[in-house]
Amino acid sequence: MYWTENLATGIKTIDEQHKDIINKMNEVFKSKNTSNNPKEVFETLKYLENYVKRHFADEEKIQLQSKYPKYQQHKQAHAEFIKSVDKLFEKFNKEGVVLTLIIDVNKTILDLFIKHITNVDKQFADYYKGLKK
Ligand SMILES: [Fe+2]
Ligand SMILES: [Fe+2]
Repeated sequence: MYWTENLATGIKTIDEQHKDIINKMNEVFKSKNTSNNPKEVFETLKYLENYVKRHFADEEKIQLQSKYPKYQQHKQAHAEFIKSVDKLFEKFNKEGVVLTLIIDVNKTILDLFIKHITNVDKQFADYYKGLKK
């Protein structure tokens, strides 16, 4: 699953970060072919988690600044997402890089991320763009 126009929020910095994150997630999925290099998969996952955290912090900052009424809910959704990523790390530590882990990244995380964009991020984007009218 890749970034497509229908995921666009219309907020440039947010869209750029979404694209980068989705590309990174796909990279993890592709690494199923190189699962003999667990270190690399781990590094990619770590990088991904940090990037996602930075992205969430950036979004929350814009939401606070623009007095978004659903800020708390959105922040909560971000926290839940990070929890799912942490679960993958637990799995990684227990089982190493196995195919199921890589499929999890793709299915669970990528699906969740895309749902988050279409449901909550777009809601915020509508609010934010409405302020400027
Ligand atoms: Fe986002
Ligand atoms: Fe978000």
